[in-house]
Amino acid sequence: MTARLQVALLFGGRSGEHEVSLVSAASVATGLRPHHDVSCVLIDKTGRWLLQEGEAPRPSGGESVFLAPVPGDAGRLRRLADARELARPDVFFPVLHGTYGEDGTVQGLLELAAVPYVGAGVAASAASMDKAMMKALFARAGLPQPDYRVLVGRDAAAEARLVGELGLPVFVKPANLGSSVGISKVKTPGALDAALDAAFAYDRKVVVERGLDVRELEVSVLGNDAPEASVPGEVVPDREFYDYDSKYAADSRTGLLIPAPLDPATAQEVRRLGVAAFQAVDAAGFARVDFFLERATGRLLVNEINTIPGFTSISMYPKLWEASGLTYPDLLARLVALGLERHAARARLRTDYGS
Ligand SMILES: Nc1ncnc2c1ncn2[C@@H]1O[C@H](COP(=O)(O)OP(=O)(O)OP(=O)(O)O)[C@@H](O)[C@H]1O
Ligand SMILES: [Mg+2]
Repeated sequence: MTARLQVALLFGGRSGEHEVSLVSAASVATGLRPHHDVSCVLIDKTGRWLLQEGEAPRPSGGESVFLAPVPGDAGRLRRLADARELARPDVFFPVLHGTYGEDGTVQGLLELAAVPYVGAGVAASAASMDKAMMKALFARAGLPQPDYRVLVGRDAAAEARLVGELGLPVFVKPANLGSSVGISKVKTPGALDAALDAAFAYDRKVVVERGLDVRELEVSVLGNDAPEASVPGEVVPDREFYDYDSKYAADSRTGLLIPAPLDPATAQEVRRLGVAAFQAVDAAGFARVDFFLERATGRLLVNEINTIPGFTSISMYPKLWEASGLTYPDLLARLVALGLERHAARARLRTDYGS
């Protein structure tokens, strides 16, 4: 066990998943407290960093602070008004889902400040948030995935070929959002145009994917250069697909089966592919890898990787580790240790060409 450290939770964020992050952060703070001291930094929807009193994240309030993007300042959080030092965390823990948090931007700032942080680095975060890049890396690693096309801007010629090449239904997804925002399932050729409009409202790049009749499996991966996979779980959406409401609505009846009812060979294959997906994007610390199991064929396909998975105490990521024998507080302590380990390893690397 690492010494009792000051862990700065970064939560909220300039993202459509701000509210989800607040819920994750409340659980993470509780889970960290047995082993570490916690400071709470709310990133509000306008992007301000607000350092809060106490060890429990709140949805508003706090003192405006900044982190200087220079190694010499050692990760101090300073009051925006007068640069007075208000906190000096040992390690940062971004519990930020979606844009400006899970996408490498915050990780870039933490790299410039040369402070340890939990989770994937800049490149892995950015590539995993962009479904087009993620799929290209998965393809490069030989991972099975649904057929897809990428559109960069509206393109009548390419759009006219989609249904012929992919069949129906197709899923239309903005490349860079999460939580199913802007995603539609298209069942008739006439519905494609509106689905593309909806997706292009969120991004200049859109992924169109062959729609399959599937079970949805997820696995939690933990580690740096020698990652390990948990037992797989299954999500049973309460509606046609696992959309935003199905994920977060208060009345959602979406079920989680932990462990997933799978034959041992399939379970083992999910774990193997989970680790392979993690390594394909060069992730670090943690990630949840999501799969489709095609009902008709039993084929296993990788859907996506999330480098900052939902982290409430009832979220799939920690639940799968719990089922694998790692408690929530121990999982968090392990993540902090992995962040420190990665930082120490990188600090040992040469960054100059001198002698
Ligand atoms: N090719 C497909 N075939 C069948 N169902 C699909 C397909 N693509 C997506 N879906 C359904 O839509 C849901 C959301 O799609 P996806 O996981 O790609 O996006 P997302 O959840 O918004 O991304 P993130 O998990 O990063 O928030 C899936 O969980 C699944 O229910
Ligand atoms: Mg998803």
